[in-house]
Amino acid sequence: MKAVGLYKYLPVSDEESLVDLEVAKPKAAGHDLLVKVKAVSVNPVDVKVRAPKDKVETEPKILGWDAAGIVEEVGEEVTLFKTGDEVYYAGSIARPGCNSEYHLVEESIAAKKPKSLNFAEAAAMPLTTITAWEALFDRLGISEQPDDNKGRSILIINAAGGVGSIATQLAQFAGLNVIGTASRPETEKWTKAHGADQVINHHRDFLPQLKELDVQGVDYVLCLHSTEKHWANMAEAIAPQGRIASIVEVDRPLDVQQLMNKSASFSWEFMFTRPAHQTSDRIKQHELLGKAAELFDSGQLKATLTKTIHGINAKNMRQAHEIVEKDKMIGKLVVEGF
Ligand SMILES: NC(=O)c1ccc[n+]([C@@H]2O[C@H](COP(=O)([O-])OP(=O)(O)OC[C@H]3O[C@@H](n4cnc5c(N)ncnc54)[C@H](OP(=O)(O)O)[C@@H]3O)[C@@H](O)[C@H]2O)c1
Repeated sequence: MKAVGLYKYLPVSDEESLVDLEVAKPKAAGHDLLVKVKAVSVNPVDVKVRAPKDKVETEPKILGWDAAGIVEEVGEEVTLFKTGDEVYYAGSIARPGCNSEYHLVEESIAAKKPKSLNFAEAAAMPLTTITAWEALFDRLGISEQPDDNKGRSILIINAAGGVGSIATQLAQFAGLNVIGTASRPETEKWTKAHGADQVINHHRDFLPQLKELDVQGVDYVLCLHSTEKHWANMAEAIAPQGRIASIVEVDRPLDVQQLMNKSASFSWEFMFTRPAHQTSDRIKQHELLGKAAELFDSGQLKATLTKTIHGINAKNMRQAHEIVEKDKMIGKLVVEGF
C-alpha cells in the first residue's frame, strides 16, 4: 500500500523530509480496526515529530494523527464497529501514524464519523476535539451542564488555531463566558464566529484588557500556545481558586509559586496520554468523539476545516507541513485521497 513517511529528520524544504513509500498492508487483530484512510489532517505534532535532528530510521516512520475513513476489516475482539462503518479518530503517538492507505487503530479511541460531515471535514476534527474536550472537562473539571457554569468565565489563549476553534465552541456550549485571544483581524473575526463572546490580543498583557471588558479575573485559563511566554500573564488573569491548563510543552520549568497566593491550580493536557499509556479509561476518547459527532450532526458544533489539499503524497504533505509550520493556521488543514 501507499504511504508517506520519513527516514531522515530534515527541514521541510528538503525533498527527503517526507517521501513516498510502498509498505505492507497491515492486518487487523484483537481490538484493532483496519481503516481505509480517506482524509488526514496535519497538526503541529506532525511538524514537531518531523523536526530536524541527527537520527536516521532503518524502517520508515509514518506520521499523521488525525484521520477519517472506512473500516475495511475488524480484529476478532472488536465489538464497537463492523466492516463498512465510517469512522474518525486521532490514534496513538506510540503507533505508526495514519498517512497510509490503510491504518490500524484500537476501537476504544475511534468513533463513528459525524454523518453530516464529509471525510475531509471529519478528518479535521478528532485530535483537536479530544484535546479541547479533555482539557475543559477532564483537566479543568468544568461541568458539561450549562446550568452549573452560570457566571463563570474562561480565557482561551490562541482561540483561532486548530484546538482553539473547537475549544471556544465547546466552552460556549458549556455555558461559560468565553474570552478568546487572537492578534490579527482575520483571527479575531474567526474567533468571534466560533464561540468567543469577546476577544483580546495575546501579544499584550491580559489583565488590563480584561479589565476593559469589566472582567476582574477569569475562573479558567486554557493555554494553547507558548506556555512560558504567557505564564505570568495567566497567573495575573486567573481569579482566586481558579484553574489553568496548558497543552503546550515548555523548555524551562514554570514558576508555580506564582499561583500559590490565589490557590490556583495548573494541569497539563496531552491527548495521547490515554492511548499511549493504554489507560483503563481510554474508552472515554471513543465516547467523547461519539458525543461530538452528535453535536456536529445537530448543528451545535461547526467543523473547523479551512484548507483542503487534494492527494495524499509526499509533495502535498510537505506543502501541508510548510503551512502548519508558519504558525498562522486558522482552523484546520486536511489532505484528502490517495
Ligand atoms: N498537548 C496536546 O495534547 C496537544 C494537542 C494539540 C495541539 N497541541 C499543541 O498546541 C499548540 C496549538 O496547536 P493548534 O493546532 O491549535 O495550533 P495552530 O492551529 O497551528 O495555531 C495557529 C495560531 O497560533 C496563533 N499564535 C501565534 N503565536 C501566538 C502566541 N504567541 N500566542 C498565542 N497564539 C499565537 C496564531 O494566531 P494569531 O495569528 O491571531 O496570532 C495562529 O493563527 C501547538 O503547539 C500544538 O503542538 C498540543
